[in-house]
Amino acid sequence: AAPGWEASADLVVVGGGVAGLAAAIEATRSGLSVLVLSKDAVGTATQYAQGGMAVAIGDDVEAHVRDTIVAGAGLCDEAAVRSIVGAGADALSVLTGIGAQFDTGADGSLSRTREGGHAVGRIVHAGGDATGREIQRALSSAAPATVTGATVLDILVGDHGVAGVLVSLSPDDLQANLGVVHAPAVLIATGGTGMLYSASTNPSGATADGLALALRAGADVADVEFVQFHPTVLFRPGGRGRLPLVSEAVRGEGAHLVDADGRSIMAGVHPLGDLAPRDVVSRAIAARLADSGADHVFLDARSVADMARRFPTVTAACLAQGVDPADQPIPVAPAAHYACGGVVTDEYGRTCVAGLYAAGEVARTGLHGANRLASNSLLEGVVLGTRVARVARDRVSVRSLTSGDPSVRHRAPRLDRDVLQSAMTRHVGVVRDDTGLHEAAAIVRAAVSRELTSTRDVEDTALTLLASATALAALTRTETRGAHTRADHPRPDDAQRRSTVFRLADDGSLAIARNAR
Ligand code: SIN
Repeated sequence: AAPGWEASADLVVVGGGVAGLAAAIEATRSGLSVLVLSKDAVGTATQYAQGGMAVAIGDDVEAHVRDTIVAGAGLCDEAAVRSIVGAGADALSVLTGIGAQFDTGADGSLSRTREGGHAVGRIVHAGGDATGREIQRALSSAAPATVTGATVLDILVGDHGVAGVLVSLSPDDLQANLGVVHAPAVLIATGGTGMLYSASTNPSGATADGLALALRAGADVADVEFVQFHPTVLFRPGGRGRLPLVSEAVRGEGAHLVDADGRSIMAGVHPLGDLAPRDVVSRAIAARLADSGADHVFLDARSVADMARRFPTVTAACLAQGVDPADQPIPVAPAAHYACGGVVTDEYGRTCVAGLYAAGEVARTGLHGANRLASNSLLEGVVLGTRVARVARDRVSVRSLTSGDPSVRHRAPRLDRDVLQSAMTRHVGVVRDDTGLHEAAAIVRAAVSRELTSTRDVEDTALTLLASATALAALTRTETRGAHTRADHPRPDDAQRRSTVFRLADDGSLAIARNAR
């Protein structure tokens, strides 16, 4: 069907989490007309963030840069790290400026906690462990209203870069309410890819949509094999979909990981013990599970002072499952948490397509490298969102002409979600090997081209594309680095200290564009 309606804006923001709304607020303030489009109203990853936002002040900036680079295992872009980490104080002002309230101590100064990989306590938090909820609340109250139920089907690119988006407002029948928003600047801020896996901390909308949109628009995507598995997700037998997080900050306040016999998981594994970077912790748990045949371990938080007050969200989730963390160890297991890779951008969120920006989890700025340091993501979202709003001003007078009429692609390869999730969970999880990765790649290759009629179909198409990229990147990386662990190649290999970058070929297939350092 041809689009039935038209609109225009200076900046279209796709996604209503921290990066998208930070951009929308700043752009509106500077006089741009902004349209925020969001697929659903079920919730962003931002609002589920618990531990907090890493903010280094003064002398601590260098140490925060160092911790970020160590966690990133050789793949961070040092200039990007320095630039984003150095903007921590500004990011905090942006949030307090719109009314976000962070926890303070008795003397009124900001409370700061520690999480895995941080040498010192530099993580500010709100509502104990409800940091994301408070940040989302403040952003949503200051941002222009979001149009929900909007599925962006394509980024339109013309002779001078981005020209707008093709969007449907009818999730069950994409053709029914199809429109074009003309815009010289589009920010993709759609979050992550957690739904590639059976269990994840992500909201159900984390279906890789933004990565697929960016690839189809001609942008590069890199580092997708580095899926971060959070070590401590509340375990329940057969648990699928979004599972509650047990914040790393609980370990920051003294909790310890133990197995069913009470033996420490992290003793002797890493100098930071229970506060080692999370790839190290997830690997140690996976090894213990493989040895013991168990499906979960325990987080013993009985020594954490005032657990229910300091961690109300975690406590409520545990109680809902019949576990009182003040009295009983919490059953936990790793689950998919964060996509360290994404759409390649510079430190201002610019992609290689003029007028196309990416920020937040969907982007790969070079901050995270092979493994994101805890609580660096809210920071990156605020910093990059705000910067995109500033650079998008340069596009206001651009008119980019597209040739032909935009229309919905009718068919695209896709797997059923259950098939895709079980292949990814079995073969592209915390620990991978050549045999399993080949199996996953073969399953994804067998995806057949099917008609696109609903938002769910668009999501599954995006997940299939990203599953293919992830399996391929993981297969070709024959080393262990950061969040990517190969049982058959257990050590890092310096010759592979580079990023695998994908681009879409003319026939729509994935091509490895280059291996960038
Ligand atoms: C947590 O609270 O453990 C999550 C923090 C993060 O993923 O950055």
